[in-house]
Amino acid sequence: MPSHVRIVEVGPRDGLQNEKTIIGTADKIALIDRLSATGLRSIEATSFVSPKWVPQLADAAEVYAGIHRQPGVSYPVLVPNEQGYERARAVGVMEIAVFTAASEAFNRRNINAGIDESLARFAPVMERAKADGVRVRGYVSTVLGCPYQGEVPLGDVVRVAKALHDMGCYEVSLGDTIGVGTPGKARAMLKAVAGDVPMAALAVHFHDTYGQALSNILACLEEGVAVVDAAVSGAGGCPYAKGASGNVATEDVVYMLHGLGIATGVDIDRLAETGRWLAALLGRETGSKAGKALLSK
Ligand code: HMG
Ligand code: MG
Repeated sequence: MPSHVRIVEVGPRDGLQNEKTIIGTADKIALIDRLSATGLRSIEATSFVSPKWVPQLADAAEVYAGIHRQPGVSYPVLVPNEQGYERARAVGVMEIAVFTAASEAFNRRNINAGIDESLARFAPVMERAKADGVRVRGYVSTVLGCPYQGEVPLGDVVRVAKALHDMGCYEVSLGDTIGVGTPGKARAMLKAVAGDVPMAALAVHFHDTYGQALSNILACLEEGVAVVDAAVSGAGGCPYAKGASGNVATEDVVYMLHGLGIATGVDIDRLAETGRWLAALLGRETGSKAGKALLSK
């Protein structure tokens, strides 16, 4: 297992993109600023996608421009096409994430394009990013199952992950978009991808729909992965993935990692406090068991 894990906090993006209530811009900025003070080193801030598709994040430019960026912390944003790239660059974004899926059916619903079409769309974005010195992360969704297609062949996951890495993504995050995976399948999937993409360039991204996320992460840590995506208070879900629920809660991941003797650099008490603050804003209880326990001590 790794001795240090980098957490990619996706709460401000994945956590808020599927909320019925639209959170105000000032609160989104406050969330990111609070997260910046917890020791997290990667905080996905927002998405420069079409506001017609994801109205929750229509204020991406205002959010990005308003956050107090801390030295040593990166603030990637989702970018689906050149238009998104231009909007992001106009406010000084230095790291983006492009996203596609291993399932053709999911991609059509999520980004209105097939897999190969989406990769072709990324090519000019990648070129411009390289010229501008912008780092690019890549996402592969539906790596353990698709809400429309069902089973997703491992070969498709490997092909898409390799394509993103070959295009220049410094890291490829493997997403169990609807949280259907179980540890044996998660491990086998990661192992298959690691045959074609170096483990050091891989991350895992689990939604917790069936309560399997922490177990899946543990199996992947044992396989050698050292980057884990998570969302504070367990917020999250993709609006175009029927049945998707929240991401694994960052507080729970950090608690497990510290218990295993794996360093994260994250102050778990500050993180739990931020989780409680976000849950209150969303008008519900925190989705993090560790967060709840820590705050009731
Ligand atoms: P489209 O409708 O095919 O795009 O959508 P288009 O190029 O035909 O443009 C249509 C309209 O959208 C035009 O406006 C464009 O200007 C505008 P109109 O002329 O009609 O007024 N437009 C944009 N506006 C602002 N920013 C842009 C942009 N692009 C076009 N970047 C598109 C294609 C990809 C844009 C759309 O499908 C989209 O935005 N999809 C995003 C869906 C999304 O954000 N899903 C959630 C994120 S993925 C996820 O959650 C999974 C992940 O967490 C991992 C996991 O869990 O597996 C990452
Ligand atoms: Mg997700």
